Amino acid sequence: MAKLDGKVAIVTGASSGIGEATAEALAAEGATVVVAARREDRLSDLAQRIESAGGKVKTAKCDVTDEREAHELVRNAEQEFGSVDILVNNAGVMLLSKIEKGLSDEWRRMFDVNVLGLLYATDAAVEVMKRQGSGHIVNVSSVAGRKTRPTSGVYSGTKFAVNAISEALRQELLEDGIRITMVEPGAVATELTDHITDEEVREVLKQRNIEPLQSVDIANAIAYAVSQPQRVSVNEILIRPTQQTN
Ligand SMILES: NC(=O)c1ccc[n+]([C@@H]2O[C@H](COP(=O)([O-])OP(=O)(O)OC[C@H]3O[C@@H](n4cnc5c(N)ncnc54)[C@H](OP(=O)(O)O)[C@@H]3O)[C@@H](O)[C@H]2O)c1
Repeated sequence: MAKLDGKVAIVTGASSGIGEATAEALAAEGATVVVAARREDRLSDLAQRIESAGGKVKTAKCDVTDEREAHELVRNAEQEFGSVDILVNNAGVMLLSKIEKGLSDEWRRMFDVNVLGLLYATDAAVEVMKRQGSGHIVNVSSVAGRKTRPTSGVYSGTKFAVNAISEALRQELLEDGIRITMVEPGAVATELTDHITDEEVREVLKQRNIEPLQSVDIANAIAYAVSQPQRVSVNEILIRPTQQTN
């Protein structure tokens, strides 16, 4: 029997990178996975791959910044599959720039997706999980949730918020049998940096000469955390590329 047989997992931001790899990893362990994001074509490709590998999957178009859509994502999963055992809050954007550049639309987008989107999906999942008396929420934070540096002030601000929210949730929900894990990756080779508009930042990142992590490395860590017995709560996982200084 696979470790997650009979479990229902939702992964947000599953159309690329860490979310995509996590959906594949959880499906490989036997979970029925609801893969959510805005790009439906990418979700369909992923679903086909999971199905051809023998996994169970459903796609769900969802913009997590829309509270109603985020709630429906969770409620529809419960209605269709009978439970929501795992929620991976992975959707995120990283629009690095110095604060003096005043890119306020990008600040808003980061807080909308990384913090409020996470809260909307969590809110709906907690309601279901409290009724079930069990559940596991994984919040994908970042090394930037522990320290900041020039150009990552606002992004770090969102991830510091994710860490604070995760720890508060852990304390609030432990008596309901609901576990919370925050995962803090260092540099992972994904599309995340493609959306940065600040040319100076893009140039600096291009010159970074370390071997990054791959999405599967983070997916494996998430699969580990959610496969532990109920008495084990893996609260925090920090993973850096071997050559990353800070
Ligand atoms: N890559 C890294 O170095 C790194 C390091 C630390 C932490 N992280 C965190 O890891 C998470 C995943 O990022 P990634 O590296 O895998 O980047 P990615 O490949 O760009 O994936 C980001 C995902 O978020 C989704 N997304 C963005 N806005 C959304 C919205 N409004 N509603 C729903 N989904 C939305 C995107 O899907 P759609 O565009 O299709 O909606 C995409 O699937 C993020 O939270 C990021 O902060 C990444």
